[in-house]
Amino acid sequence: MAIAVHLRVNGTDRQLNVEPRLLLVHLLRDVCNLTGTHVGCETGICGACTVLVDGSAVKSCTMFAAQADGAEVRTIEGLANGTLHPVQQGFWECHGLQCGFCTPGMIMASVQLLARNPTPTRSEIAHGLEGNLCRCTGYSHIIDAVEYAAAREEVTRG
Ligand code: FES
Ligand code: FES
Repeated sequence: MAIAVHLRVNGTDRQLNVEPRLLLVHLLRDVCNLTGTHVGCETGICGACTVLVDGSAVKSCTMFAAQADGAEVRTIEGLANGTLHPVQQGFWECHGLQCGFCTPGMIMASVQLLARNPTPTRSEIAHGLEGNLCRCTGYSHIIDAVEYAAAREEVTRG
């Protein structure tokens, strides 16, 4: 049995028929071919699969694709718009990644964090990213990257 799902992914409408137990992360990677969203633990722990669903950071391995019916989904592929998004630029400038496995999820969680708190303290950044694990960079460069993005967005806002 397939379920009809209509969602908007990175600004593109998608009308799909999905298996009831298909996870959102697999819809994005295997059906939409958006492999920037990574799969780590598949148990909701690592945060590698984080995307934005209606503006909220969601671990897409914990959500059925069918539950995203009617939603606006944004993945790492939907961030850059001719130039890197300030958070992406921050990770670049501040060496916020090494292997890059956690990076798409970290960036999407950071985008939500800054949307809700444009001027976070370091401890608020650490708290905001506590659902995302990095096994190689360590967290101080990642926090630097989010601070960089916050400062850059503040300049943009004027
Ligand atoms: S792959 Fe989803 S939280 Fe780890
Ligand atoms: S950069 Fe390798 S897991 Fe975070």
